[in-house]
Amino acid sequence: MTGAAGFIGSHTCVDLLTAGYRVIGVDDFSNSSPHAIERIREVVGPDVAGNLDFVELDVRDGAALGKLLGGGGRGGGPVYAVVHFAARKAVGESVRMPVEYYDTNVNATLRLIEAMREHGVRRLIFSSSCSVHGNADSLPIPEEAPARPTNPYARTKWICEQILSDLCVAEPDWRVIALRYFNPVGAHPSGLLGEDPRGIPNNVMPYLQQVAVGRLAELSVFGSDYPTPDGTGIRDYIHVVDLAEGHRAAMEHLDDQTGYRVYNLGTGTGTSVLQLVAAFSEAVGRPLPYRIVGRRPGDVAELVADPRRAAEELGWRTKRGLADMCRDAWEFQRRNPGGYDGVAG
Ligand code: NAD
Ligand code: WQD
Repeated sequence: MTGAAGFIGSHTCVDLLTAGYRVIGVDDFSNSSPHAIERIREVVGPDVAGNLDFVELDVRDGAALGKLLGGGGRGGGPVYAVVHFAARKAVGESVRMPVEYYDTNVNATLRLIEAMREHGVRRLIFSSSCSVHGNADSLPIPEEAPARPTNPYARTKWICEQILSDLCVAEPDWRVIALRYFNPVGAHPSGLLGEDPRGIPNNVMPYLQQVAVGRLAELSVFGSDYPTPDGTGIRDYIHVVDLAEGHRAAMEHLDDQTGYRVYNLGTGTGTSVLQLVAAFSEAVGRPLPYRIVGRRPGDVAELVADPRRAAEELGWRTKRGLADMCRDAWEFQRRNPGGYDGVAG
């Protein structure tokens, strides 16, 4: 599992370990803390923690990847599949640093494919994003809706999807599943694992979490003049533990067929920014301060998944609602006000 110390990787690691998988996690900690690996071990408990190996490496380093895959899994057994989370993910930063985004997101995926091919590993689960669609023509968004990425980050994801699809045509023994996540939020219910971005959060939920513990003064609500019922943007927020379970479902269905497949992971339900602020305030037990400001450039009014394909083919459905997402996110932030590394407010 690449990017195992990150937000979605750490939760998926817990889910897979708990389900009995052995996991070799890799990460370079460029956007995460080594404490996340300790927390994964703490959440799963001592009996299972031994099934997690961790190697610090940069996924752009093909030789290091080759050495790892060549060494086999724990005890020298073969690696069954790779889950590839590692990437840079900030849309605004990708506009300023496109080369770094293409290098980390696209080149690293190519190095990974080469290393997997060299060592006979041909099952891959890839982290894609609803942002490959850009402005959707109609809602909810099915997988076959046109891809029209509007920023370098989203383009890296769409390029990787096309590389993987082409690979599966040329080499038909590969089994690749791309999962397009909508807006992952929340935390593990233990309060031990959660979203801990470096610097000022770009995304609304971690921003609200930091407002709630006083690290940030108030949320800026970007625009109240969208064509939505309350005028603020609507998104399909999905609990990160539901998302983790989606990866396990994909893992369990990898062998259903060869080739390339893509699935949306979302709830199918939209929530506005003001509804999210109200739900999070409810979880915290007091109103959180916010101010309505102008629109953020590049934002769209509404993005909601059509998650039916994942339900039909993977047997996966979300089980957790907005109140669960807010409760668990708050529990993590309350217990870790300064994040994993205890950053001062
Ligand atoms: P994250 O930043 O928390 O996790 C990514 C992890 O990858 C981090 O731990 C980081 O240190 C690591 N990493 C980055 N570059 C690396 C490199 N060169 N070598 C090794 N490790 C490296 O992000 P996340 O939210 O957990 O996202 C995981 C994946 O899901 C990413 O591919 C992201 O693009 C995708 N995704 C995320 C969202 C979202 O909103 N969080 C939505 C759609 C898709
Ligand atoms: C959600 C809503 C904002 C911050 C991004 C990526 C996407 C995917 C998920 C990776 C919007 C509003 C936000 C704030 C606000 N990531 N907002 N104040 O933009 O839907 O999606 O993350 O693949 O690719 O683009 O998520 O959390 O930034 O915004 O009012 O301080 O909250 O306008 O309506 P977004 P977000």
